[in-house]
Amino acid sequence: EIDTGPRPSPARPLSVIAHRGASVAAPEHTLAAYRRAIEEGADGLECDVRLTADGHLVCVHDRRVNRTSNGRGAVSALELADLAALDFGSWKDRDADPYESPDTVTDVDARADDPERTSVLTLERLLQLVAEAPRPVELAIETKHPTRWAGQVEQRLLELLDRHRPTTPVRVMSFSARSLHRVRAAAPHLPTVYLMQLLLPRHRDGRLPPGVRIAGPSMRILRAHPDYVDRAHQAGNQVHVWTVDDPADVELCARLGVDAVITNRPRQVRAQLDEL
Ligand code: G3P
Ligand code: CA
Repeated sequence: EIDTGPRPSPARPLSVIAHRGASVAAPEHTLAAYRRAIEEGADGLECDVRLTADGHLVCVHDRRVNRTSNGRGAVSALELADLAALDFGSWKDRDADPYESPDTVTDVDARADDPERTSVLTLERLLQLVAEAPRPVELAIETKHPTRWAGQVEQRLLELLDRHRPTTPVRVMSFSARSLHRVRAAAPHLPTVYLMQLLLPRHRDGRLPPGVRIAGPSMRILRAHPDYVDRAHQAGNQVHVWTVDDPADVELCARLGVDAVITNRPRQVRAQLDEL
C-alpha cells in the first residue's frame, strides 16, 4: 500500500442553517419550509420574528405581510387572529432553483390546502417543531426592528425560551447591537450573533460589540474581505455567513473556514459540502 503521508486533520464541521426554512423548496417561514429543512439535513433553522399587535411573536421577515401573504398591512398593526386568516403559502408557485440548470424546477410541494404550507407560523410552534425533531436541530432567531418596541420583542422571546427550554442550541441574531445587549443583559448565557451588512472600520479587526461572540457578515462582506474570517477567529469569535446559495460562495466559505452558512437551499449546500 502506498503511504500517502499524514492526512490533513478534518476541518471544523461547517453548520448548514436553513434561511427562513428550506425557502427555495417551500414558502419561507412556514412550518412546511422548516419541516423540509430538517428533512434536507439542515443543522439549524433561521427565522425572523416580529411582534403582532396583541403581543405574539410570529415568523415573518418583512414589516408588512403584503409580499408573503394574500393580506395587506404591517404585522405590528395586525392581531394573531388576523394573520391566521391569511394565506402565507399560495404566493409561492413552483420556483426554478436559480443555481441549477434553467430547466430544473425545484420539487415544490404545492398543495394549497395544506395548512402547514399556508398558515402564519408562531415562534412558539417553531419551538415545538424543534422539540419534536428526530435529531438535534439548532435555532437561530433574528429580532427584526426591535428598537420600535422598546425591548418587548426580546422580553417576549426570552419568556418563550424560558417556558419551552429547548434542549438544542439556540442563539439570537440581530443587526441591532442594542437588541443583542438587551438579550445579554437578561440572559447572559444565550449566544448572540451580530449581523453585519457592511463591515464598519471598528469591526475590521474581528472584534464585536461587548459580549457577542459570533459575527454574522453578509456574503458580500466576505467576498470583499476574505481575511475577515481569520481576524474574527483570532479575536475568539465564530463567523456565520448569510445568505450562501451560490456554489462558488459555498466553496469560498468552506475554504475560509467559516463556522456556519445560512442558506435558502440546505439540501444542495449540504450535498456540495459533503463532496468537498
Ligand atoms: O441570517 C441573517 C439574514 O437572514 C439577514 O438578512 O434580510 O434575510 O433577514 P435577512
Ligand atoms: Ca433573517
